[in-house]
Amino acid sequence: MSFDPTTPPVAGITQGAHVLITGGSSGIGLGLVRELVANRHVAAVTAVSRRATQSDALSALADECAGDRLKMLDCDLTDEASIERLPAWLRAHHPRLHLVINTAGILHDQNLRPERSITQLTRNALDQAFALNAFAPILLARAVMPLLDREEASVFASLSARVGSIGDNRLGGWYAYRASKAAQNQLIRTFAIELSRRNPKACCLLLHPGTVDTPLSTPFQANVPAEKLFSIERASNQLLGIIAAASPADSGRFIAWDGSDIAW
Ligand SMILES: NC(=O)c1ccc[n+]([C@@H]2O[C@H](COP(=O)([O-])OP(=O)(O)OC[C@H]3O[C@@H](n4cnc5c(N)ncnc54)[C@H](OP(=O)(O)O)[C@@H]3O)[C@@H](O)[C@H]2O)c1
Repeated sequence: MSFDPTTPPVAGITQGAHVLITGGSSGIGLGLVRELVANRHVAAVTAVSRRATQSDALSALADECAGDRLKMLDCDLTDEASIERLPAWLRAHHPRLHLVINTAGILHDQNLRPERSITQLTRNALDQAFALNAFAPILLARAVMPLLDREEASVFASLSARVGSIGDNRLGGWYAYRASKAAQNQLIRTFAIELSRRNPKACCLLLHPGTVDTPLSTPFQANVPAEKLFSIERASNQLLGIIAAASPADSGRFIAWDGSDIAW
């Protein structure tokens, strides 16, 4: 599913869209920011990450944009107090939000490696993965729900991963990452049900981007066939295609890059 950049990123909105992208300094998040700031139906984008204001890529993009269309905000989404400070900042910079895409996520870092065996699993890995992949998205949802437009349509989307599917788990391994994405799926699915009652024009989605050529996937690309490794541009465009085609009737779905539903 591809996105037509001459159309609005959220179906049915008549005003310039106000957008929040977490994880906007790298990988898919940066690709989404790049595509959205170039869209004439977008009024302003805020890109959030721990070091968004230090990102050369975001600074260069902001310099290219007319006016103040791209804003950067540093926020550690594993810190609840920092998430609670987000709404005040957002209210000062956006009248309301039409699109929130949470892309912040972790698979590995200096101290974290996806496990091949249960013997490699540590409590620390579980804590780290759950903090960003499961708890951050639902705390973000709590923070931004009051800011989602109620007069027009809005979308809250969070990036999950097919490996978070319990029904589709055939290979095993990657305990912390899989389980944290599965937990995210349940939390965001639950949020989707409440959101449909509180804001019937809003839509909430869990999205699997495919395998995308980003720093997150770099150490694990060796066995991925070239045609199954998406560029950031392709993945961002595909995700925006799904979001732009979504309506409140789609709320609560777990959708892959090609528009197909993924088993929970
Ligand atoms: N790439 C793939 O093949 C693939 C496949 C399936 C699912 N996904 C999912 O897609 C999402 C995006 O992945 P990606 O490949 O684009 O990852 P990435 O290139 O590693 O980017 C991760 C982003 O998250 C931010 N971040 C990390 N920790 C944070 C924190 N504590 N608070 C706020 N922001 C934080 C990073 O910026 P800072 O370092 O500045 O904080 C960065 O902007 C993830 O949720 C991932 O699980 C990716």
